Amino acid sequence: MAVCVAAAALLMYQPLGYADDSQIPPTDKDQLFAWLSGGKYKHWASESEPHQSAGPHPVSVIAYLNKALNSSLAANTEAHPQDAAAVKELLDENGDINGWAVSVKTDVDSNAGQGWFWYEILGATSDSSVVANGNGVPLCFGCHTPGNDFVLIPHPLK
Ligand code: HEC
Repeated sequence: MAVCVAAAALLMYQPLGYADDSQIPPTDKDQLFAWLSGGKYKHWASESEPHQSAGPHPVSVIAYLNKALNSSLAANTEAHPQDAAAVKELLDENGDINGWAVSVKTDVDSNAGQGWFWYEILGATSDSSVVANGNGVPLCFGCHTPGNDFVLIPHPLK
């Protein structure tokens, strides 16, 4: 009986997947900053230790992948599902968080980068410099174009 109730609750909950704020980062700048600084992504699949980023900011980073993206990369699919998301912590020389980069697939179609939301903040306080915030930011998707549907990190995560 308890199982049936749990299953029914799950079925009712599933269509509201977008409401699961521990899996999908908000794409509003202020809400996203609060979500990131609250560490909502910390339970996602992640790299076991920092690596030097090959991206635009040559700092130590740790990448985190939500369930949708992690499963999709594991299955080696050509297109990730809508709501696939990644968070990259940018670390300072002491290993403390000093910013974040985020990508969220907001559409079923990646549409040459427009279907992805991109965000990056250089610093860990709310007044830090936000260098990307929106869909189709050229700086971001340009470099991510050769990836697997715009995702560059080698998978499985190390
Ligand atoms: C110079 C190329 C380059 C640019 C420009 C770039 N990235 Fe990346 N990005 C990378 C590489 C390479 C990785 C793989 C992990 C690593 O080495 O950092 C990556 C990884 C990521 C990840 C982890 C998921 C994934 O795709 O692997 C996120 C999130 C991310 N970048 C966001 C951004 C955002 C937001 C911007 C725009 C501000 C951006 N990137 C611009 C090269 C780039």
